[in-house]
Amino acid sequence: MSIEGRPFGTGMEDAGSRSLAALAEPYRIKVAEQIRLLSRPEREEVLAAAHYSGIHIDAADVFIDLMTDSGTGAMSSEQWAALMRGDESYFGSRSYQRFETVSREITGYPHIVPTHQGRAAEKIITELLVRPGDVVLSNTHFDTTRGHILHRQGVPVDCIGDWLWDFGDEREFKGNFDLKKLELALARHHSRVPFILITVLNNMACSSPVSMQNIREVKSLADRYGVKVMFDACRLAENAYFIQQGEPEFSGVSIQDIVLEMFSYGDGCWMSAKKDAIVNIGGFCAFRDESLAMRAKELLVLYEGYPTYGGLAGRDLEAMAVGLREGLDQEYLAHRIRQAAYLGRLITEADVSVSRPVGGSGVFVDVRSIYPHLSAEQLPTVAFAADMFLEGGVRVGGALFPMKTVDIGSGNIVDRSFEFSRLAIPRRTYTQGHLEYVADIVARVKSKASENMGYRVTYMPETMGHFFVRFAPVAG
Ligand code: F0G
Repeated sequence: MSIEGRPFGTGMEDAGSRSLAALAEPYRIKVAEQIRLLSRPEREEVLAAAHYSGIHIDAADVFIDLMTDSGTGAMSSEQWAALMRGDESYFGSRSYQRFETVSREITGYPHIVPTHQGRAAEKIITELLVRPGDVVLSNTHFDTTRGHILHRQGVPVDCIGDWLWDFGDEREFKGNFDLKKLELALARHHSRVPFILITVLNNMACSSPVSMQNIREVKSLADRYGVKVMFDACRLAENAYFIQQGEPEFSGVSIQDIVLEMFSYGDGCWMSAKKDAIVNIGGFCAFRDESLAMRAKELLVLYEGYPTYGGLAGRDLEAMAVGLREGLDQEYLAHRIRQAAYLGRLITEADVSVSRPVGGSGVFVDVRSIYPHLSAEQLPTVAFAADMFLEGGVRVGGALFPMKTVDIGSGNIVDRSFEFSRLAIPRRTYTQGHLEYVADIVARVKSKASENMGYRVTYMPETMGHFFVRFAPVAG
């Protein structure tokens, strides 16, 4: 991606230059939240007590928390001020009206249904649209989306290209659908496809963007087979920023206009506002079709609350209304994407392979490049997360993510998994100093990695196992 002539860009080279003002945070800190680094013996004790899983570590014991970018961002002074305007009326709250106006303007969809977070929206949409045996086709489903489709006895299929498995494949829009896969799946299963789901950005595919070109092509295939298109919109602004920077047609086009064009190719969307709307809680669904929205509202009353609050307080709706707009701000986005690129570059310099180009909300690390001596059974992702905490009190996520995809040769739906560690960057929360510290810890982990003999699972319940799993180190 070229950054010629622009004050900000996403190029890795450029992000590495520490002299650029562009790396200076475009905000200043008004409220400080203390964090502290435990001593090495304390960290060892905490990690063992947490069964070697970051999920079980108390937040107070973490120095820098890169487990997720969801709900962990810093609200702005404008958002905090808006909280005070919260109208907590059960029916017809003014806060709802303000939120509805903004979300309509941003998405272009007329019918808005608020929910307390993304998965609540997924529950409603899958209950409305997915029947047993249905096949939902996405570039990549997020964890909870997949869970909801499976819960409805549907089959979530990820049409991401096989390039995903190559961390070194530097194509610009790595989050795209492989149109060949999509076409094969539509040709075989179209009568059972309730909708195609475009996830922007494509979180589970290394937080990589989807191009407008790809979205248009997906829409034309969907039209050919008479299938609806929905968007998982939680990182809508980050995706639009990559389109602006990477597709010449959109150079100089505003983020808002790009978002509107993206969604013009869909029938609706849902959004976890905990990401690009920079709130700690919130979400919504949006529909073009009124009758679908009416049915969603009926379910909403059962699961979340009346449609003018949807499982949220009026003040939360106010914070979302402000955050939705702030999330589209050009300079905020330029800085955010540059932060991820910068961390990715520093980690690459430590001779650790990351998915490139680095995506929007964090850096995805190829753990095999750190622990080449560990087999998959020795859980290198767990080893990396444990080492990051032991060496520097840094909490990172990771998964051996199961998915169904399309085999290009046979056209069959096949099982595959994708293994990664994710250093997710919370919004407006950490500074350049924090990122440099994290990269130094990665380098230290890498230099000692051969001492790590891997981990084994000691406990794994059947339902939502990865949230409750426990590990132990393999004896050396
Ligand atoms: N869709 C995507 C693409 C997501 O990344 C998430 C959450 C959801 C839906 C669900 O939204 O958490 O508000 O219910 N992702 C978080 C993460 C948890 O860490 O990436 P939610």
